[in-house]
Amino acid sequence: MTAKIIDGKAIAAELRARAAGEVARVRREHGLTPGLAVVLVGNDPASEVYVRSKHKQTQDAGMASFEHKLPADVPQAELLALIDRLNRDRNVHGILVQLPLPKSLHTETIINAIDPAKDVDGLHPHNAGRLAGGFAALAPCTPLGCIILSKSVHASLEGMNAIVIGRSNLVGRPLLQLLLNENATVTIAHSRSRDLPALTARADLVYAAVGKPEMVRGDWIKPGATVIDVGINRIPAADGKTRLVGDVAFAEASQIAGAITPVPGGVGQMTVACLLVNTLRAACAIAGVPKPAV
Ligand code: GUN
Repeated sequence: MTAKIIDGKAIAAELRARAAGEVARVRREHGLTPGLAVVLVGNDPASEVYVRSKHKQTQDAGMASFEHKLPADVPQAELLALIDRLNRDRNVHGILVQLPLPKSLHTETIINAIDPAKDVDGLHPHNAGRLAGGFAALAPCTPLGCIILSKSVHASLEGMNAIVIGRSNLVGRPLLQLLLNENATVTIAHSRSRDLPALTARADLVYAAVGKPEMVRGDWIKPGATVIDVGINRIPAADGKTRLVGDVAFAEASQIAGAITPVPGGVGQMTVACLLVNTLRAACAIAGVPKPAV
């Protein structure tokens, strides 16, 4: 059997188009232009690529995009002062500080300084706590994308056995909460879990978010399962360049799974699309206009 390839690129394009439609509507009906501020500290090449893509897609959706680039050695007080200005800026509805930050900065202090109403990354403890409590919250974009991709295969995730491999604040933990909200039965596994292949073999839904190239093997997968690969790993290729691979051994797993996301072209595309949706939702909530239909 060969798995259906989940087309993250097409699903993300459709979501961006729906977000753009709603952006146009709130501007027309309420005079509101959602605005996203992205803060990049230092010049990590991968982060620069992400930030450029966020900037372009935000503008393409009809929203305002504000880019702030700071040198790697920026004093923490200066970054906190910028966040304070963005918190008070009425044209900014979403604030994203690109991670990882240089080691000289204390990530937790920086995240905690963001107004929770503008925390479109869903990383502030206010939002993480609300999500864990089952309350309405801004949720992190990558796990939101994972849920949308899963629901492109299964109309409902209710009662399904899911395994989330990885427990990061950005993906694993919030994904656990979103899956619970969908009434899935969730196992969360990590580097200390015993017998990961056996745990994975029970799962109808497999989410790999560990950052280890091709760690999840084909023979771990239950036949017909849906596999969502969050990994983006650059590994050396034969021609001396690098190539992108996920956390799942795609060639093997696609022979066993019922549906699987490719890398690239799977989850990666969804993250920015969900960021646009979060920014639109945050803008409507801050401006006191009805929730958007996306
Ligand atoms: N770095 C990689 N992914 C993300 C993300 O979703 N948000 C932020 N802030 N940084 C990231």
